[in-house]
Amino acid sequence: MAKITYLHPNGTATVVDVQAPNTVMRGAKLNNIDGIEAQCGGSAQCGTCHVYVDEQSTVPLPPMDSVEDDVLYGTACPRRESSRLSCQLPVTEELDGLVVHLPEAQS
Ligand code: FES
Repeated sequence: MAKITYLHPNGTATVVDVQAPNTVMRGAKLNNIDGIEAQCGGSAQCGTCHVYVDEQSTVPLPPMDSVEDDVLYGTACPRRESSRLSCQLPVTEELDGLVVHLPEAQS
């Protein structure tokens, strides 16, 4: 289980405990957190689960593969250095304390 903070564009935060083997995307959906659409259901095709990992975060994340890299060029909000697809971030205990910023729009 990992405690994950989802920061909304209006500055509010939602903090939830997410169980493995969910993803950061699935953690948002299970907890009815607005701002993650996940239209493709987590198969790294739609780009509507885009998040910005907090720049202060020291939580180790898995490396980005070429599919995720490609999809991140087509997201509704601009790609940044910190951009990830939340469906490609499996929840493990190592992700405890992760903070992600939700973009203004997903589609
Ligand atoms: Fe579609 Fe993540 S849910 S790319």
